[in-house]
Amino acid sequence: MIKIGNDINLAKKILDKNGLVAIPTETVYGLAGNATNKEAVNKIYLIKKRPFEDPLICHTNSLEKILNYTKNIPETAIKLADYFWPGPMTLIFEKKNIIPDITTSNLSTVGFRIPNNSITLELLHQLDYPLAAPSANIFGYISPTETKHITQNFKSGIDYILDGGKCNLGIESTIIGFHNNIPVIHRLGSLIIEDIKKKVGEVEIVSSDSKFPGSFKNHYTPNKDLFLGDVEKLFEKYKNKKIGILCFDKYYDFVDKKNQIILSKKSSLIEASKNLYSSLYKLDNMKNVDVILSSLLEENMIGRSINNRLIKSSIKND
Ligand code: TXA
Ligand code: MG
Repeated sequence: MIKIGNDINLAKKILDKNGLVAIPTETVYGLAGNATNKEAVNKIYLIKKRPFEDPLICHTNSLEKILNYTKNIPETAIKLADYFWPGPMTLIFEKKNIIPDITTSNLSTVGFRIPNNSITLELLHQLDYPLAAPSANIFGYISPTETKHITQNFKSGIDYILDGGKCNLGIESTIIGFHNNIPVIHRLGSLIIEDIKKKVGEVEIVSSDSKFPGSFKNHYTPNKDLFLGDVEKLFEKYKNKKIGILCFDKYYDFVDKKNQIILSKKSSLIEASKNLYSSLYKLDNMKNVDVILSSLLEENMIGRSINNRLIKSSIKND
């Protein structure tokens, strides 16, 4: 059994000895270890079964600290940091050697963010090294937004789970690199493009089939097959199977309500994003469901990020 609690001192003690602690953030829970320590970072890759070519991102509590680990910070990055940190944004910088190559999969760049969660910020404040923290799930599976999701993924190997309740936003950070001072979005996330543009103008978006790290095609994937499209048509196609539905704001009348999860009764995309992963966990854990059906949401604001995750977690249906 993995110990769960809100003892920041214990979390620090474990991390100081290169152990692993799951930490709450406003996006999803992270599986954290000292980012400057190869042994701790190696353990993260091994217990997650994550390929060593998929770099980790680092977490700390101030821009000053980030400057110790990075160089040549573009002006636009400082602006973005000012506006959006602490918050669901990861910025990619050139790294200094103090960040070991294993943390960044031999890239010369490193991702940093200041998460917006009070217990984790307090922990980060007390540490004199940053925390490498990928999402606290087995590689490829659904990201965790509650502590019970972490214990579903891992029976051992994590020394402590710092309990921060349910994550507020529920979708990972937006990852932003820079190209001649212009922000380049590498991963859609909880910070929406509309808000970034309002503050800094032009942005570029890396296409989703790019080979860049962070763009693995299948990700956030339930064990059951998830099909996206017109739910009624999909129902006709799969009606000989036990069907579960991930609904946006209302139930469908051709499937038992017990096998359906609503993302937001009040039709809020923000609430839907908060509930997305926990709803996928619920459907994946339902004994009387074999396949999951759902449809894409409006392709704007946080809907764009929700759709990105739904597509990555689904099976191509053609
Ligand atoms: O919200 C989040 O970002 C959460 C919480 C825990 O902070 N973390 C998270 O980590 O989602 P992870 O490892 O699941 O996803 C980080 C992504 C990876 O897909 C990785 O490929 C990409 O960031 N990444 C890391 N370093 C990079 C770099 N230097 N350049 C480009 N992509 C990078
Ligand atoms: Mg992840």
